[in-house]
Amino acid sequence: MPMASIVNRKSEACDGSPPPYALRVRSVDVPLGDRSYRIQIAPGLLERLGKECSRLKHGRRCAVISDRNVTPLYAKAAHESLSRAGFEPALITVPAGETAKSLDTVRRCYDALATHRLERRSFIVALGGGVVGDLAGFVAATYLRGIAFVQAPTTLLAQVDSSVGGKVGVNLKAGKNLVGAFHQPRLVLCDLDTLRTLPEREFRAGLAEVIKYGIIYDASFFRKLERSLDRILDRDPRVLADVVARCCEIKADVVGKDEKESGLRAILNFGHTVGHALEAISRYGKYLHGEAISIGQVIAAELSSRVLGLPAGEAARIRELFARAGLPTSLRLNARNRGRLVAAMHLDKKVSAGEIKFVLARRIGEVEFGCRVSPEILDRALDSSAPAASVESPEPRRQHSTPNRRSVPAD
Ligand SMILES: NC(=O)c1ccc[n+]([C@@H]2O[C@H](COP(=O)([O-])OP(=O)(O)OC[C@H]3O[C@@H](n4cnc5c(N)ncnc54)[C@H](O)[C@@H]3O)[C@@H](O)[C@H]2O)c1
Ligand SMILES: [Zn+2]
Repeated sequence: MPMASIVNRKSEACDGSPPPYALRVRSVDVPLGDRSYRIQIAPGLLERLGKECSRLKHGRRCAVISDRNVTPLYAKAAHESLSRAGFEPALITVPAGETAKSLDTVRRCYDALATHRLERRSFIVALGGGVVGDLAGFVAATYLRGIAFVQAPTTLLAQVDSSVGGKVGVNLKAGKNLVGAFHQPRLVLCDLDTLRTLPEREFRAGLAEVIKYGIIYDASFFRKLERSLDRILDRDPRVLADVVARCCEIKADVVGKDEKESGLRAILNFGHTVGHALEAISRYGKYLHGEAISIGQVIAAELSSRVLGLPAGEAARIRELFARAGLPTSLRLNARNRGRLVAAMHLDKKVSAGEIKFVLARRIGEVEFGCRVSPEILDRALDSSAPAASVESPEPRRQHSTPNRRSVPAD
């Protein structure tokens, strides 16, 4: 895998003049022909939502979809900015959390859009984390056979991952993201100020995706994360601007080359085979997604050492960085739950012809997808992921707590 090049990265002032640092906007373009769009990254961008939307030449009517946590914090700023620019926004507030990603909520959104008389030229703004982005994007993909939408992501995970790339969808009882579409946004506005109010646990979970980009694509970015982790955890906006921009560049590059995941895009799933299985067997109640893929990436690094010769020192650096980020890195499973975990891996969407295919690293910054792993090697990697000392039973997932556990049993 080649190191990613800088993709169309610029810094610009709002009015063209050299701005104070806080107002510099980083831009990353997602190159998808006539569906190309720009990601903008800076503090204070919600103020500019209306102005940026008016460049897109859509109709005046629009809807902001947000959730019950984000609406009280940011809907007013979004609404005012849109109104100042001459738009007529309706606000639709959905429940917070994964349960909002349901067909039931989709139907309620359709009804609200119809009440507000949104038409073909109208657009939707997704204001929130990945849940709101996936839901609002799916509503936009299907209402009137598809209308435009803009992503205004407010979690670290959404800014570096879910708002870019056009995968939208909702869950069924049978599983996550089983109904969906590819529908690219017209614009992504990452307002870094919104990250200030993000609960610590959510912030750290987002870091698991950030670290992933270093492992799969860019060794020097991984080193930068090692050097700057403390400032990142302090949410220093200057470092965050660089970090979010680099992640978006990498995702834009990958999506630009393989929009519909026929090959390369699979590398974004590093650590996700085990991570998704872990989320599924704990019924999405114990781990945040970022916590599950933190464990998943440490296990993938272990597998990488055994299958592709990832140097032991690099596997150790991977484990160490997740641990320093306050994320869980090990897993203790009894035999029954280990069986459930492996069975859940076989149910993952990435399985073909009954064989689990892994994304594995040859070096930090260089990965391969479609790697076969024998059941024996998987078993040994799971053995080595057990914590050195035994740990207490985990507390049930709490939405707004700080994780201080570095190893968590899944049963
Ligand atoms: N489409 C994709 O490519 C893609 C990629 C990765 C993940 N996802 C999806 O993203 C979802 C997870 O996203 P998430 O981690 O952002 O979760 P989330 O949207 O549930 O947000 C996490 C929590 O933080 C709250 N919140 C959001 N922004 C806040 C802010 N600025 N201040 C205070 N609270 C805030 C939310 O209300 C919620 O309670 C999952 O459904 C996952 O499937 C999609
Ligand atoms: Zn993920």
